[in-house]
Amino acid sequence: MKIGLACDHGGFELKEELRTYLKSIHIEPIDMGTFAEDSVDYPDFGALVAEEVSRGELERGILICGTGIGMSIVANKFPRVRAALANDLYSCRCSREHNDSNILVIGGRIVGKELAKEIVKLWLDTPFAGGRHKKRLGKIEDLEKKNFKKISTKSQAPAFAEAASRRQAKHQIISPATAGRNYQNSKFQTNVLVIKGWDLGFVI
Ligand code: RB5
Repeated sequence: MKIGLACDHGGFELKEELRTYLKSIHIEPIDMGTFAEDSVDYPDFGALVAEEVSRGELERGILICGTGIGMSIVANKFPRVRAALANDLYSCRCSREHNDSNILVIGGRIVGKELAKEIVKLWLDTPFAGGRHKKRLGKIEDLEKKNFKKISTKSQAPAFAEAASRRQAKHQIISPATAGRNYQNSKFQTNVLVIKGWDLGFVI
């Protein structure tokens, strides 16, 4: 299972502990930082993992900040992310059985190391229960489509740009009259043009 791991300074100590723990149960997490105790901004690190989960590049993610609240807010801004703040075992189990959570969030200043390891193990071992819960997740997807249309399409832009790059496409010819707006995606060094809710990436 491909799992991303990230934290801010409030979760650094626990992140290090959980990275070692995951290795001991034969899971090699992709550690996206932070890599020291210096103060950083949790949205920067939460977004790294949440974006990859949103795009389907990572199956799951684990995020840790001081309380877990900030990371939860950030992660749930991404379509298809169901981030659950689970500082106890009951919430953790329900987040998998009921919500099919794909990101686990823990408060590094709230939860002790041993409990955190139990939470992680339970989260990894508990399957989604399906049934009536599936219908409810469908309703969440409907809300995403309705409320996060632009964000939803934007997240697909890097994948589109990469595919375009593979085909060695140099430009997408787009009429400026139909163009909505441009934004820069520095990570993939592409420009992305948003037209009527669709994103088209082209390599520059
Ligand atoms: C950092 O001091 C703290 O605000 C952060 O780790 C987190 O708890 C935010 O929700």
